[in-house]
Amino acid sequence: MKICKTKDYNDMSRKAANLISAQIIMKPNCVLGLATGSSPIGAYKQLIEWYNKGDLDFSEVTSVNLDEYRGLTHDNDQSYYYFMQENLFKHVNIDASRTFVPDGTIEDAQEACSAYNEIIRSVGGIDLQLLGLGRNGHIGFNEPADTFEKETHCVNLTQSTIDANARFFASREEVPTQAYTMGIKNIMSAKKILVVASGEDKADAVQKSFFGPITPHVPGSVLQLHPDVVLVADEAALSKCSL
Ligand code: GLP
Repeated sequence: MKICKTKDYNDMSRKAANLISAQIIMKPNCVLGLATGSSPIGAYKQLIEWYNKGDLDFSEVTSVNLDEYRGLTHDNDQSYYYFMQENLFKHVNIDASRTFVPDGTIEDAQEACSAYNEIIRSVGGIDLQLLGLGRNGHIGFNEPADTFEKETHCVNLTQSTIDANARFFASREEVPTQAYTMGIKNIMSAKKILVVASGEDKADAVQKSFFGPITPHVPGSVLQLHPDVVLVADEAALSKCSL
């Protein structure tokens, strides 16, 4: 595991964007595993800037997103489908037919999850998986639990996640209580993993995930078992780690 300590959110975002763009330059037809949340937004902005300068080409890139709220339609501005259009896809030359997000509109959870597992298989595996960390150490929407779920599954969101994500919704009642998410095996099968974390409210999750015992009660802790993980985190997020 490599840890890259950055000054602040902007510095974290530029360094993470550098790693993502290196992946695209080295393998133009790579498969990127993408994430939502506020952590990766700065990196996406930087990638868009480099694309506009002519330094990056997404035309052969395929993307698979980690997760989606169950029940939200594509035009709902809180859906992760919508987030990806707004924060990255519509600003770069990625081929829309090669961007995948779990379909939250499929009511039958088993059908939705099998369909997504099939998509992940059909793209041939993820070259670089970008991850944020939930305050409780969740990755994607893999919430703390007694076991690690392997593949895409439907989760009941924990109160802590609902509270944390309520800031994006008009009211707490509007936050969906379930989501479809890639499982731990899907994530761990990526060739490389890039985790971004910023701010003091991530300090516990970072410490527990990267330095604590490996347990499904802190889903991010499984990343310690991956052979090629880079954590790009700012000073505040690393403040509880003795480096
Ligand atoms: C959400 C997403 C995760 C994300 C996490 C942290 O629940 N499902 O993929 O990493 O929250 O979000 P943020 O970056 O906004 O703190």
